[in-house]
Amino acid sequence: MCGIVGYIGKRSVAPILLEGLSKLEYRGYDSAGIAVYNGSEIQVEKAKGRLAVLSEKTNGGQSVNGTVGIGHTRWATHGEPSDVNAHPHLSQSGRFAVVHNGIIENYIALKKRLESKGFEFISETDTEVIAHLFEYYYKGDIMEAVTKVINRVEGSYALGVLCVDYPDQFIAVRKASPLIVGIGEDENFIASDVTAILKYTRNIYYLEDDEIVVLKRDGVEIYNMDLEEVQKEVFTVNWDVSAAEKGGYEHFMMKEIEEQPKALRDTISPRINNGKVVLDDISLTTQDIKNIRKIYIVACGSAYHVGVVGKYVIEKMCRIPVEVQVASEFRYCDPIVGSKDLVIVISQSGETADTLAGLKEAKNHGARILSIVNVVGSAIANASDDVIYTWAGPEIAVATTKAYSTQLAVMYLIALYMADKLGMVTSGEYARYVKDIEALPDMVAKILENKDELQYLASKFYNCKSIFFIGRNLDYAVSLEGSLKLKEISYIHSEAYAAGELKHGTISLIEEGTLVIALATGSELFDKTVSNVKEVKARGAVVMGVTTENQDDMDTVADYVVKVPQINETLLPSLTVIPLQLFGYYVASLKGCDIDKPRNLAKSVTVE
Ligand code: AGP
Repeated sequence: MCGIVGYIGKRSVAPILLEGLSKLEYRGYDSAGIAVYNGSEIQVEKAKGRLAVLSEKTNGGQSVNGTVGIGHTRWATHGEPSDVNAHPHLSQSGRFAVVHNGIIENYIALKKRLESKGFEFISETDTEVIAHLFEYYYKGDIMEAVTKVINRVEGSYALGVLCVDYPDQFIAVRKASPLIVGIGEDENFIASDVTAILKYTRNIYYLEDDEIVVLKRDGVEIYNMDLEEVQKEVFTVNWDVSAAEKGGYEHFMMKEIEEQPKALRDTISPRINNGKVVLDDISLTTQDIKNIRKIYIVACGSAYHVGVVGKYVIEKMCRIPVEVQVASEFRYCDPIVGSKDLVIVISQSGETADTLAGLKEAKNHGARILSIVNVVGSAIANASDDVIYTWAGPEIAVATTKAYSTQLAVMYLIALYMADKLGMVTSGEYARYVKDIEALPDMVAKILENKDELQYLASKFYNCKSIFFIGRNLDYAVSLEGSLKLKEISYIHSEAYAAGELKHGTISLIEEGTLVIALATGSELFDKTVSNVKEVKARGAVVMGVTTENQDDMDTVADYVVKVPQINETLLPSLTVIPLQLFGYYVASLKGCDIDKPRNLAKSVTVE
């Protein structure tokens, strides 16, 4: 996520902004900037790269004079990391400066309309649209302009807005992106989270959606969308800084597990318009799709597990053959891939060495590359013919959760988009898929309400020496991810097995008390997996079944049962993975492991 800091008071604002932004660095960013009213105009300083670059450019803020300003660390979503794309963005005349955290879903239409009115854009960002919109609507009354702007933009935003005509105030607006107001002595602040301003004040307002704040030196005024003043209670923060960085969570991993509904919403919503999947990000034509001979999916780790789901989903919906390979194998197997093949490359970081090498190998064979990436402007994104970004925001925990989930969502969108172009889905099926994909964020949120159930189960099994995950088809694909999540953060040995394969050897490892987590959500194969449950039970296993709310038979065979809501079975991986993420987290927590930074692991494996 991006980071926002704003200040108005008696002190020099630039050093306060830089220091506040440094407290938000953990959120992940690729560029930073500040805008300060210097007595005659708004001075903007911004730089790609680490905050140190901006600090050096401004001599630690000493070269920027003023006592009111806004600052920003950017996590790129629209437009690669660069000085030009960094925030703050100025309006055409320089009258307004804007910083923004979130996604403006209708920025393309707004940009076209503003260009038709003579506005010239210099960046690739959605945020610049907001700066010019203020200019367009401003007729001398900034509050009137604010309400017009926020009535026009769609999406999520936390905004900081500076106007040269109002040097003794600045404005903030919140909608679906966090923003807090800090109350000081003759000075006031905004920030994306409390870490940025804890040094100065612990008295804050948590803003609600659609609230507008006017910050002055002697106080703040909060308004609703109808410009009616809102009275709010001051909240006194008693967190220490390190806790605040995690938004009050003990670990980034749990914070990111809980962020999945929002990450899914941010990734899905801009790509479904009036009931149609809209993939403006890619240039694959219908004819290109019809010409595809075979699809390869190349990735590592959890991204590879998304690929295994993708294989089942794409083959089911599009009837195009799909081969999934771990990148470290694909890159050295002289793959039989050519110009008629589509290679889908999946990577959260966009920097995984094996995956990048696999991409280049495919490219050398003439294949077309479509990548699913979370980091804008990363090496894999830049090397691809087409990129679909997951808008999960920065993922700090080494064990991926929200990036994995948003990659799944993009995989469904790609499959449905291609199936539609191929005429492989009826309009009714298409509409049902769209409706179910749009429902995923809320269904994941519902599952997250039952965390205690998984915490209880973890308390029963955190001393296990070995845990097996079994499933068939999509349940097997999710078993792979559940097993990896457990292994990488709890250090418990675990294996994921195709349920039907267990009896071909590995079942010899099942003994009294061995925990087997059996995923059985697909209706067609449910009974088959139940038979496998009985097989392992007969050999002493303890079984935790994971199934859907409508499946009661699992209750009669498994020792414990976790249920997820029923939904279009093709999309169930997005739901069944959530309990497995939580189980792994709680087991690791009970074992006292370093959950966010597990031993031997890196967030991005940029070496072979
Ligand atoms: C997942 O929890 C692991 N951290 C790891 O398997 C990861 O998925 C893999 O290294 C691929 O990383 P990428 O998505 O950044 O390419």
